[in-house]
Amino acid sequence: MSYDEYLKNITKRNELKKLVEQDPYRLSYHLMAPTGWLNDPNGLCQFKDVHHIYFQYTPFSATWGLKIWGHYTTKDFIHYNEELPFIFPDNQYDRDGVYSGSAFIKDDEIHYFYTGNVKHIDKEYNYISDGREQNTMHIVSKDGYHFDNKKIVFTNDNYPSDCSKHVRDPKIYEKNGNYYMVLGARTLADKGCVLMYKSTDLVDWEYHMRIDSNMNYGYMWECPDLFDCEGETFLLVCPQGMAQDGYKYQNIYQCGYFKLDLDVENKRCTCGPFIELDYGFDIYASQTYQDESGRRILLSWMGIPDADYDNDCTVEKGWQHALTLPKQLTVEDGKLYQKTLDELKQLRCNSIKTELQNETIEITNASEIFIEGCTDEISILLNNEIELKYHNQLFTLNLEKVDRGRKQRYVEIPKIKNMHLFMDHSSLEIFINDGEFVLTSRFYGKEKSNILASGYEKMTIYSLNGYEINEFDYNAS
Ligand code: FRU
Repeated sequence: MSYDEYLKNITKRNELKKLVEQDPYRLSYHLMAPTGWLNDPNGLCQFKDVHHIYFQYTPFSATWGLKIWGHYTTKDFIHYNEELPFIFPDNQYDRDGVYSGSAFIKDDEIHYFYTGNVKHIDKEYNYISDGREQNTMHIVSKDGYHFDNKKIVFTNDNYPSDCSKHVRDPKIYEKNGNYYMVLGARTLADKGCVLMYKSTDLVDWEYHMRIDSNMNYGYMWECPDLFDCEGETFLLVCPQGMAQDGYKYQNIYQCGYFKLDLDVENKRCTCGPFIELDYGFDIYASQTYQDESGRRILLSWMGIPDADYDNDCTVEKGWQHALTLPKQLTVEDGKLYQKTLDELKQLRCNSIKTELQNETIEITNASEIFIEGCTDEISILLNNEIELKYHNQLFTLNLEKVDRGRKQRYVEIPKIKNMHLFMDHSSLEIFINDGEFVLTSRFYGKEKSNILASGYEKMTIYSLNGYEINEFDYNAS
């Protein structure tokens, strides 16, 4: 689909938009698919004061389809612009999808690297070892809205010969004046790993090394992100094919990280244990960037592919999926902690502070709830149907009473100090112990919003205003 074809279909998008606007499940302070389908956040960066949030997008279909890069911008995480989509699949190297990628700012320009997906249909293929191309593409922009041409960095012929055709999702890491590109890969022997290439100018790249683990961490690692945070190095990755192990790895695919002992120049790397970033039902494809004030900001897809639960009730309304709240990463005892950005406090419009236990309190369906002085026995019932329990050092999120197939998720937590909940019509993000443990989920309830809780000293409830989103003006363009 080229830019012109997209514009020709804009009335279709506008019709879908009317449907989306009638959906009570649409989110009021999360970035969601404006119409159609959204998945991974892409190309995250802050350039000249503006945060650019691109995303995997199929504007005309709320189910999986041909991917372009949608685009939101913001200066304050409260007021957003929905921009014209940024990259379209318009040449032979990305004709079946502008897949995920990232942004890197150098010398007043933004360099984007992404995967051009090509699917052959001339005969039967397994699409693992054959029938697919995943080309690494490079574009440069002076403003985040326009670029001149697409350059091919790699085709599958350039990747190591033991790799399958699944090699994708480039992200750049800078160390001591050199640039390193990480790519998620699946070997022909079905082992997930990260390939790393090196460059001194972001143009010429040579193969550098591979990061993998001796442990069995699945057959494919998607969406790698290598970054430093507070002096430690982390590799964020989404492994596919890891079996559930007790309360670990309860989702079909994982989203987590390794703390690395990395000497990149001497090609030495040891991965610490894999730690899940989030224990909820709907989390995948996280990406980070460092903003102009030095914060390491994280956004994730609040969804997951191939799960046995669904979001069909929003599909009927012409859209599917959203991004998580933007969060800041910090490090404590070698672990990543996630906290929502301070800017989000501006969404608060009024608050109730209470020490009441076991009493139903009416709340709005866009609420933030902070619970302090937690005991060893906590019980929270939201909207008469979402259960959060802490008992015997086990935290349980139970969505069984809500529609669409989500059941329970568990996390073992030695001690809960506080809990921070963000509810937005059909999403719930739970932060425990100042972001040490996070559970992100969608839910499609039928009840009015309220909370009935016990097992704490104090609870503060804020009603939240919605984000403001200005749509791109197609009539003026
Ligand atoms: C992860 C992912 C990426 C790919 C993109 C396609 O959700 O599968 O690996 O680039 O989505 O939309």
